[in-house]
Amino acid sequence: MAAQPGNSSGKAARPPSAHALPRPWHTILQHAALPTLTHDEQTRFNVVAAMNRFLAQRLLPRVEAAAKQSVEPALEAALVRPPADRHEYRRALEQDLTWRIWSRMRRATMEMRQQAGQLAVLRQLPALVETCRALNVPGDHLQLDASLAPPRYLEALPAHLMPGGYVGERAADDVGAGASYEIGIYATLGGQSGPASDRAGRATVAWLEDHRPGWRPRRILDLGCGMGSNTLVLARAFPEADVVAIDAGAPMLRYGAARARALGVDNVRFVQGDIEQPPLAAEAPFDLIVTLMVLHETSRAAVQRIFAASYRHLAAGGVAFHLEQPPYRDKPLLEQCLRDWDGRYNNEAFWSALHDMDLVAGLCAAGFDASGIRETTANAVPVEPPPGQALQEDYGRGGAWYVVTGEKPPAS
Ligand SMILES: C[S@@+](CC[C@H](N)C(=O)[O-])C[C@H]1O[C@@H](n2cnc3c(N)ncnc32)[C@H](O)[C@@H]1O
Repeated sequence: MAAQPGNSSGKAARPPSAHALPRPWHTILQHAALPTLTHDEQTRFNVVAAMNRFLAQRLLPRVEAAAKQSVEPALEAALVRPPADRHEYRRALEQDLTWRIWSRMRRATMEMRQQAGQLAVLRQLPALVETCRALNVPGDHLQLDASLAPPRYLEALPAHLMPGGYVGERAADDVGAGASYEIGIYATLGGQSGPASDRAGRATVAWLEDHRPGWRPRRILDLGCGMGSNTLVLARAFPEADVVAIDAGAPMLRYGAARARALGVDNVRFVQGDIEQPPLAAEAPFDLIVTLMVLHETSRAAVQRIFAASYRHLAAGGVAFHLEQPPYRDKPLLEQCLRDWDGRYNNEAFWSALHDMDLVAGLCAAGFDASGIRETTANAVPVEPPPGQALQEDYGRGGAWYVVTGEKPPAS
């Protein structure tokens, strides 16, 4: 084990505890639109968060050890060559008991999160709808389109086992998807996304501060904003900016708009639409256009259309910022298999294909000049992790993202 740095008293600093529990559910950001959870409902999420931490910190190293010590040597002996790709590697891995237990438990934690979220939200749905209705009056910050036909990839397969997905509605003025997303994402990320579940937004603002110091975008477009937790970070970082946040899911937008009101953020307009063809007229062009963890939930053709929209609606001197998990190229096959778990077992149908795509070529094809495109990284800005704990990488749920940006030259 590497030596621990000493402290001023000469004693070794205490390493992060592998036993520490994630921050409890009740420490998430409170606001008027948030569902109220009973003690037992909170405990369910706390258990799921703790299970996720156990899987990442304790069981995952054993999966990796089993892969290295037995799966990989046996596979190479049988093939008489190294495995050709992650698919060949994964088929061998799936025969291993440690992998099977880890994988099954990981799936179970997602099923438990979604069930716990549904139970808590459905129990109080009429009251939640009323609260959000009241917060959303007057409704100039929320623009819905009842005629929108959501893309098939959002309707056909509910992402990460979320009943009804982002677009399903079970009541008039439904807000269930957004509410369930907010109370449950804490558990999936083991509390690591901070009380407001907004670390991708914080990472985006930190990236902009590093790469465009002092820059103040006046018009911001968030494509696929969901319930808007990350949108609000941008809106607060640039309070003088007008922010347009588009999503196909009305229950996400109603909840997100009410949440923004409850939190006192008033420079965001939540608009229902298909981000492949964003319903924009007078609002464009934008100085900053973002997609935050959206592309993997679409399709190959959709990514290209979203990139084209991000080019078309970008102002001169502006930046299109697309944040995702890193591509698989150059990653060891075992890591590719671990990262690819969501694509095979968590209803993320396009996950696997996206991570094989060349997004730089995609931005070029959308119209960006090659000199204005860069592949980069955005790092989560930790929000006071509980004492003795460190942010951990969980192959897709850790704190660093791959970002591909396209910039337009300033007007001359
Ligand atoms: C994983 S969520 C991410 C939400 C948000 N960006 C965040 O950082 O929390 C992906 C969102 O993209 C939306 N989305 C995906 N494809 C879309 C499309 N073609 N049109 C509109 N919204 C879309 C989904 O409805 C969902 O809310």
